[in-house]
Amino acid sequence: MTSQSQDVVERAIASRREAVNEAVLAELPVVEPERLYEATRYLLDAGGKRLRPTILMLVAESLADVDAATVNYRSFPAEGGEIDLLKAAVSVENIQTFTLIHDDIMDDDDLRRGAPAVHREYDLSTAILAGDTLYSKAFEAMVDTGAAPDRSVDAVRNLATTCTKICEGQSLDIDFESRDAVTTDEYLEMVELKTAVLYAASASIPARLVGADDDTVDALYGYGLDIGRAFQIQDDLLDLTIPSDKLGKQRGSDLVENKQTLVTLHARQQGVDVDGLVETDSVDAVDEREIEAAVDRLREAGSIEFARERARSLVESGKDNLGVLPDNEQRDVLADIADYLIEREY
Ligand code: IPE
Ligand code: IPE
Ligand code: MG
Ligand code: MG
Ligand code: MG
Repeated sequence: MTSQSQDVVERAIASRREAVNEAVLAELPVVEPERLYEATRYLLDAGGKRLRPTILMLVAESLADVDAATVNYRSFPAEGGEIDLLKAAVSVENIQTFTLIHDDIMDDDDLRRGAPAVHREYDLSTAILAGDTLYSKAFEAMVDTGAAPDRSVDAVRNLATTCTKICEGQSLDIDFESRDAVTTDEYLEMVELKTAVLYAASASIPARLVGADDDTVDALYGYGLDIGRAFQIQDDLLDLTIPSDKLGKQRGSDLVENKQTLVTLHARQQGVDVDGLVETDSVDAVDEREIEAAVDRLREAGSIEFARERARSLVESGKDNLGVLPDNEQRDVLADIADYLIEREY
């Protein structure tokens, strides 16, 4: 991707970030018990790229063919009336943040969005509850967009199914830690479930809410699914290659936790002793040099390039679905975002 398209994506995210952040906090006032609500807001305040709400907004804007500079997201034009698009944007960001809180507990990670993970900053019980609160608030927000009842039901159903699948995917991810090997198909199924379905929901729910037809909704679901798979492959690569302070989470965590990724499964097929790459079994004790040496070995085996190639082809097949959108600026940005997901460095 050119640096120009990267700028386009970063500007698209930046110009919507304020609206998303204001809405996120407005939907989550600090009430009693304060400690719970503070913990619930803590990770939302810490940052995050806001990729999923941005995609959701761009899809709606493209379909409604509105000017992003002047549109009011709280009374957004939909077929037959107006909707509060920010409620839907908050909803997907809440689900994202909830999964991160619980994921860090499961993956025993201490650093998230450049800050201590919620279970470190607070405690385990509070972190579990903060995640649960975000989860339920996401449904409160999604049911409240003001969309026609049948579309609202469909959006909430999509979100609920998405959450069930995320749990299935996370369960497979954990199961795979104790497996000697997994196949590419098993890996791709796991990442579809744990990660890609939330991208698919973020791209297809706005289409449903504004009143698009089934073919459009389905194509956008397909876009989200493929770019979401590619996104997770890139996430796995970043875990190996990007220093923790830039990444905002602990580099090398996946090797320590014995995660199965496209990189490690390819390396095993090439005869690399993947389990012997990193000696430490504690994320706190990870040594950057040990990770560098492991990455060199994985690169030599062609495993990094193998994963990158698969991510590239998923991005291309994802973008093929965007023909259902009108030919406008937002559609172009959605194509650039697909590329960005595998070029980003954090
Ligand atoms: C991290 O997602 C979790 C995965 C699904 C790999 P992001 O990299 O989008 O995290 P934030 O929201 O920007 O913090
Ligand atoms: C997480 O995958 C997917 C989720 C559903 C949160 P990872 O475990 O790879 O995410 P990070 O690397 O911790 O963000
Ligand atoms: Mg994790
Ligand atoms: Mg995980
Ligand atoms: Mg990861």
